[in-house]
Amino acid sequence: MAGAQQFVPAAADIAGLRAAAADCRGCDLFRDTTQTVFGRGDESARIVLVGEQPGDVEDRKGLPFVGPAGHLLRRAVDDAGLHPGELYITNAVKHFKHRATGPGKRRIHQTPTRVEVQACRPWLVAEFSRLRPAAVVALGATAAQALLGPDFRITRSRGKVFDWPASAEVPAEFPAHDHAFVVATAHPSAVLRADNREIAYAALVDDLRVVKRELD
Ligand code: URA
Ligand code: SF4
Repeated sequence: MAGAQQFVPAAADIAGLRAAAADCRGCDLFRDTTQTVFGRGDESARIVLVGEQPGDVEDRKGLPFVGPAGHLLRRAVDDAGLHPGELYITNAVKHFKHRATGPGKRRIHQTPTRVEVQACRPWLVAEFSRLRPAAVVALGATAAQALLGPDFRITRSRGKVFDWPASAEVPAEFPAHDHAFVVATAHPSAVLRADNREIAYAALVDDLRVVKRELD
């Protein structure tokens, strides 16, 4: 697997990156999908939210977090007092990994492997280099481990503020603002699946409030 690097144009803005990503063949995940789902948001956004990968709805619409998890995320962002206009939302992996099952061939989400996350990483690094965020939010384990290393555990370290990228064990390849920080939290899909959805939702909002407090 060659990875995405050869498809990333050196001197492109976010729109140029998005256009180039449409033709990425850096791993096999582009097969059996509708399209690449690149990040979305203002190029001057201070906060970058990173999810795992597009879901079924995102694959069809071509935009990140526009399905059920996205609705919950938007509500949580709002309840935390963050302004949607300040956000750029993207994913660690830009194609929908799934398997088709049953007579209706319903498409079931599959977690991307570490190798696939690695293959897609050049797009994420390129987004960071254009955005230079002040705050980074990792939504769920895939994003957190992509940004903070394979040993990162959401259960142990969610809601904590880490200097970014200084204190991360990751190679300092993710360009950011001078005093940037990263906070990891649960994935909104995990909140939707939680036994006690209200408690899980409140915990997500609490973690997003940490971001708000640090920026204020
Ligand atoms: N889940 C994600 O991680 N990203 C999306 O874009 C949608 C659902
Ligand atoms: Fe390229 Fe990422 Fe899609 Fe793989 S998942 S083809 S690396 S955009």
